[in-house]
Amino acid sequence: MKTASNQPNQQNQKTPAFLMKGLAGRKTLKGRVTINGAKNAALKAMAAAVLFDKKVRLENVPHTADIDTMSAILEKLGAKITPVRNHVMEIDTTGMTAANSTDIDPVLAGGMRASVVLTGPLLARFGKVSFPAPGGCVIGARPIDLFLEGYKKMGAKVTLENGLYQITAPNGLSGMDNFFHIISVGGTETLMMAATLAKGKTILSNCAKEPEIINVAEWLISCGAKIKGAGTSTIEITGSGRNIGDAGKLLHADQAKPFVTIPDRIEAGSFLLLGALCAKDLVIEKCEPKHMTAVLHLLGDAGVIMEVAADTITLKGNAKPNSQSKSFNISTKEYPGFPTDLQAPAVVFLTQVTGESSILETIFEGRFKYVEDLVQLGANITVTDPREIKVKGPTAFAKPIGDLYAHDIRAGFAIVMAALVANGHFKIHNAHLIDRGYESLEERLTSLGADMRRS
Ligand code: UD1
Repeated sequence: MKTASNQPNQQNQKTPAFLMKGLAGRKTLKGRVTINGAKNAALKAMAAAVLFDKKVRLENVPHTADIDTMSAILEKLGAKITPVRNHVMEIDTTGMTAANSTDIDPVLAGGMRASVVLTGPLLARFGKVSFPAPGGCVIGARPIDLFLEGYKKMGAKVTLENGLYQITAPNGLSGMDNFFHIISVGGTETLMMAATLAKGKTILSNCAKEPEIINVAEWLISCGAKIKGAGTSTIEITGSGRNIGDAGKLLHADQAKPFVTIPDRIEAGSFLLLGALCAKDLVIEKCEPKHMTAVLHLLGDAGVIMEVAADTITLKGNAKPNSQSKSFNISTKEYPGFPTDLQAPAVVFLTQVTGESSILETIFEGRFKYVEDLVQLGANITVTDPREIKVKGPTAFAKPIGDLYAHDIRAGFAIVMAALVANGHFKIHNAHLIDRGYESLEERLTSLGADMRRS
């Protein structure tokens, strides 16, 4: 029997759901899907808007729920936002003040871990910030010690009172030498942003190398920030030397150089894995295959026939895994390794391939909660360790009518994949979690031939 903890928000009737009819191998998806900008880059650019003395323009921004949450947080802090329209948004933080703009809304921040990246720009500009201590999260504890250690080294004082962190640096931040004892995407981005306004030089070592970090760094550089080495393990930042209270030493937005969000490699990888399961002649457009090497190699070795061009991947040949398809093992890793965000979609693919696979989750503990739903559908999966599972395929997925649950953004997409290959009618609860990372998923899958609607 399912446990209550495995059915997040099931009591909340207000959350949206997807109603789906599985393809059951009788039908295949076909068509073209356009990849949106990377939400994990756009969110960081939104946070970076606080570093600027002028309105900034962001382009190719995906209209996902996380982007709306970040907009709401910034608006509560006093920023003026022109909401995403045709994937363009503008953020004007000139009206933000030290008196009114440093207490991040705890409720909104609780809904999205990425809001912690705002603490760096706010602290650097206003010399203080308050932020709720993150609680347990559906994909693990997700501590913020790396952020706090970094701020302390930059001269800030950190206190925790009634569940709120108060971080203060009334004289501004100072440059520092920091080694990340765990490679962290958010930690790298946040300390990099904070250091752009600090006094002196900051050296960050053992940094994450994700393309989203380069995307944000290149934009900041084009607006006057002095950053070297983004995308490598050592990043060197020479700060502008801001004194808190001074009007100057912020970054200057150049309207001719908007932030242009790179294609979302996780969204592209999700559609690729889904297509490899149940689509024929699926064209994945406006993606960046050079950011997807790990997943492209694994799928190529598994026998999936793909044509890879500069910004397009076309799935050819068989619409689903066949006797020639090979299983593979996965160990999630920092970029350029196999992304943890594609772990769950890849597991659904592996349930349909002949052979045994082992999946090791090295980044987050607690990222296998969706496995129980797959097992209920018919998957043969053994949890050998909180961080490791074994999948034996292929197994047919069937359930005449079933309730399934999105546990987080990516596991939610994986459950949609599972429902698509299955035989049956499904209600996928908590579609709002899927909306956090995938814009209009039901419309895009319907245009490829899926039978799916929102309720
Ligand atoms: C980002 C992505 C997320 C992706 C993850 C790893 C965004 C909005 N999210 O999350 O989709 O799954 O990278 O690629 O960009 N850690 C600490 N202390 C800290 C910070 C992190 O121990 O202070 C640990 C985390 O618990 C985790 C590891 O570091 O085990 C990596 O996490 P991190 O790279 O920071 O993930 P996020 O930036 O939160």
